[in-house]
Amino acid sequence: MSYQTLLTNLQENIFTITINRPDKLNALNKTVIDELSMAIDEIYSNESIKSAMMTGSGAKAFVAGADISEFLSLDAQGGKLLAQKGQENVFNKIENAPKPIIAAVNGFALGGGCELAMACHFRLASNNAKFGQPEVNLGLIPGYGGTQRLTQLIGKGKAMELILTGNMVDANEALSLGLVNHVTNPEELLTTTIKILQTIMSKAPLAIAEAIALVNHAAYGKSDGLKKEIESFGKLFDTQDAKEGAKAFLEKRKANFTGK
Ligand code: COA
Repeated sequence: MSYQTLLTNLQENIFTITINRPDKLNALNKTVIDELSMAIDEIYSNESIKSAMMTGSGAKAFVAGADISEFLSLDAQGGKLLAQKGQENVFNKIENAPKPIIAAVNGFALGGGCELAMACHFRLASNNAKFGQPEVNLGLIPGYGGTQRLTQLIGKGKAMELILTGNMVDANEALSLGLVNHVTNPEELLTTTIKILQTIMSKAPLAIAEAIALVNHAAYGKSDGLKKEIESFGKLFDTQDAKEGAKAFLEKRKANFTGK
């Protein structure tokens, strides 16, 4: 499938989505949101896609936020719909994807850009990346999940400070806050992300999917997480891959997982 505002590429089972509006620092306008929704559907439905990576076009930005030029025409109902559609069709779908999706943050990740990175399962950043939720500068708040996911990732005090001040943090501070897992040189960002995805793809896909769902469950503070873990743990024993994993260990060879 080809897109107007995204570049996509499927290589060795890794689907790369590059938001491609570099002249507008990859700001998320309506077309980008609609196309991201379709590209994420591809991740769910295409069996050749085993994992995905999200990045931005150009050297300057991952995504500099929602497209502010679309804001002036919005009223309360329009704003609510923008947030609701974005959350349901893009951000929550990324978070709940059964295949790993990593953000490779190559520059500014502001507002909706920081939220997009946070919806991914985890984040790598190049050393020129900058993160922030500057919506208060526009008389707004984050609407694509930022108040919830930033709090989950860095804790209440720091999330409160970043959201109330609109201040940015650089890649190293993002690393120390736990907002990103690794910082690399810009040239090594994608290759390092690919290496991590390859490690994950060498594991059993059904176990990976269950693990994603359970960690997400925990992040929302739900009380039945341990019970759910017992159910998922048990369910996996009925998979061929769990048999193969144990057999391979005992036979001192590499497991050959099939996703069954
Ligand atoms: N929405 C729409 N357009 C945006 C944008 C956004 N969120 N962020 C950047 N752009 C556009 C600029 O308007 C400019 O377009 P132009 O060349 O047609 O004038 C272009 O991208 C380049 O941005 P510019 O501001 O000139 O780059 P800079 O290096 O001076 O500043 C930023 C970079 C990221 C600090 C600055 O663009 C910025 O503050 N952007 C908005 C961030 C924001 O508030 N995001 C949250 C939105 S809810």
